[in-house]
Amino acid sequence: MPLPAKPKKLIIAIDGPAGAGKSTVAKLLALQMKFLYIDTGAMYRALTLKAIRKGINFSQGRQLTGLAKKTRIDLENKPDGTIRVLLDREDVSLDIRKPNISKFVSDTAKVPGVRKEMLMRQRELGSKVSCVLDGRDIGTAVFPDADKKFFLDADLKERVRRRHKELKENGQDVSLEDVQKDLCNRDTIDSSRKCAPLKQAKDAIYIDTTKMTIEGTVKVLLEHIKLSTQRGAV
Ligand code: DC
Repeated sequence: MPLPAKPKKLIIAIDGPAGAGKSTVAKLLALQMKFLYIDTGAMYRALTLKAIRKGINFSQGRQLTGLAKKTRIDLENKPDGTIRVLLDREDVSLDIRKPNISKFVSDTAKVPGVRKEMLMRQRELGSKVSCVLDGRDIGTAVFPDADKKFFLDADLKERVRRRHKELKENGQDVSLEDVQKDLCNRDTIDSSRKCAPLKQAKDAIYIDTTKMTIEGTVKVLLEHIKLSTQRGAV
C-alpha cells in the first residue's frame, strides 16, 4: 500500500518596513499554521546588544563581522506563540527591543560580513521545517525561492502609532516624535544599503495594512496561502 503523501515543507517570507506589523502577523500566522516562526530582525538586534556591551564602534564593519561569527544566537518558539531570544544563552528578549538597540541596529545590519553570517544561519534554521520568516531581505536574498512572499506596508503615521503603542505597552517611555525619527532613520539605512536592501521581491504580494487589523491581515495571508496550495502552486 502506498504511504500517504508527506506534507510539503513550506517557506513563507514576510518583508516590509519597520512598524508595518510584520512580526505580529508572522507570529500569529506561524502559530495558526503550526510552522516555526523565525524573527530575523531579532538576530540583528541581539548582535547589536552585544556590540554595545563590548563598546564596539558601529563604523567598524570588520569588528562587527568578527563578533557575528563568534556569537551564539538562539530563537525559541514558546507554546503561547511568543519567542525567546538568547544571546550566548542569556535571555535578552526584552533588552533587544529597547530604543538604544533600535538606534544602532541598522548600522549592524548594513555590514556585508554580518549579513552573510546571518543569512547562512537563517537558511540553516529554515531548512528543516516549514516556517514563517519576517525581515527585510527574506524574499529577495535569504529565501528567493520561498513558496509564498508577502510585502507588508502601512502609512508612516500608522506605523509610528503602532510602534509607539507597542513600546508603551512594554513600559518604555518614548515620544511619538522619537519613534518617528527612529523608524525613518532605519528605513532610510535599510533601503539604501548596498547589501540586500529592503526591497519588495518581484513575486511578493503587496499588502497595505494601514486600515487593516492584525487578525484581518493574518486572514488575508492565510487565504493567499490556501489558494496557492489548492492550485498546487506551492
Ligand atoms: O524587524 P526589526 O525591526 O526587529 O529589525 C531590526 C533591524 O534589523 C531593521 O531595522 C533592519 C535589520 N534587519 C535586516 O536588515 N534584515 C532582516 N532580515 C531583518 C532585520
